[in-house]
Amino acid sequence: MKKEITSATQPLRGVIKVPGDKSVSHRAVMFGALSDGDTHITGFLSSADCFSTISCFEKLGITFLRDQDNVTVRGKGLYGLRAPEGEVSLYTGNSGTTTRILSGILAPQPFSSILAGDDSVNRRPMRRVIEPLSEMGADIKSVNDNGCAPLRIRGSQLHGIDYVSPVASAQVKSAILMAGLYADGPVSVTEPSLSRDHTERFLSSCGAEVATKPLDDGSYRISLKPCAHLSAQEVRVPGDISSAAFFLVAALLVPGSEVLLTDVGINPTRAGILKVLRQMGADITVTVKAERPEPYADILVRHSALHGVDIRGSIIPALIDELPVIAVAAAFADGTTTIADAGELRVKESDRIAAMTENLRAMGAAVQETPDGMIIEGGSALCGAQITTYADHRIAMSFAVAALAAAGVTVLDDASCVAISYPSFFDDLGALLR
Ligand code: S3P
Repeated sequence: MKKEITSATQPLRGVIKVPGDKSVSHRAVMFGALSDGDTHITGFLSSADCFSTISCFEKLGITFLRDQDNVTVRGKGLYGLRAPEGEVSLYTGNSGTTTRILSGILAPQPFSSILAGDDSVNRRPMRRVIEPLSEMGADIKSVNDNGCAPLRIRGSQLHGIDYVSPVASAQVKSAILMAGLYADGPVSVTEPSLSRDHTERFLSSCGAEVATKPLDDGSYRISLKPCAHLSAQEVRVPGDISSAAFFLVAALLVPGSEVLLTDVGINPTRAGILKVLRQMGADITVTVKAERPEPYADILVRHSALHGVDIRGSIIPALIDELPVIAVAAAFADGTTTIADAGELRVKESDRIAAMTENLRAMGAAVQETPDGMIIEGGSALCGAQITTYADHRIAMSFAVAALAAAGVTVLDDASCVAISYPSFFDDLGALLR
């Protein structure tokens, strides 16, 4: 679906409740399926990626009752998943999270599985889960022997390990921890900086023994004891800060804007964008509404003059998904913004460093691509352009925001990909511009 977006002729104004957090919604389904009894989820993200997770668990014998964004998961316990004929084929769509975390859940099951996604998922690196799970004793192979999905997983008894991960990845950490629930001894994962900790929060509230320890060199060790069962619970999914990010930046860029975003998740392992935008000069007020199990807040944002900043180091995992729209903010800010230590962007739904560089340049921005980031000389007046989204939801939404602040008309070659994380994005954006 092609989409034309014209320069904003009026400010963004109003109140918006963004849809539920994608990472929390995936995990609510997974933990619900593996818990004893019914898990009631409110604020579930009804989007393509989360439906991929639901459909995988339906194939594994789990029942879901859905009423809009309320979902009940009929959990069958840690040992209740079933494969119809001894081997089950699961399709994970565009969702790397589903593919990687599910591989950790499937490795200890008493049946075999084939796990495959769409073209984008099947190009993404899976050695990062194959290697640690194999060390635990899993029988997990890349079917085409290229380190990517499809993966063939034959269930086996797993052992505890102490794994030092070269990347700060919540998907890798979560795959190992989920597998660790079934291992014959404790597991630990040490990651170079703390990635999102939703899995640890779920483990803890479902009754598992999990602990996080900061180490002297800045890395974090997360340890888990094997567990006999998980308890079902009520899950209230906060709004997704990764979706809120598009309205934060749009309101900052379009003169006269003032937007209140309600009930947005502000877990510290996710909220790096708030810190960076404030460093850039953003007028943002955060009113915290709850702290546990996932903190959330109302966020008021007003149009502001922005300036360039340096973004690197341990904050990167806390804003990795927001870097595309932060790059848009940087292109309109005064001065230079440097993004470094963000090589992971190259292996997301698209190569986001290449996609951002190419598209920002098409709009007239001065951007230099580096192996692990970008250097953006902000402040030139940008013009509407033809944008290639690479079927990447966050690239599409980032350039919808850029289009509002640029002169003329911008055309997104394919905007249907917003359904991956935010099906009503264009309607919600339109409502704030009315
Ligand atoms: C996610 C983790 C992040 C993030 C992704 C969702 C998750 O990836 O980019 O969109 O829900 O675990 P990493 O595994 O690289 O942390």
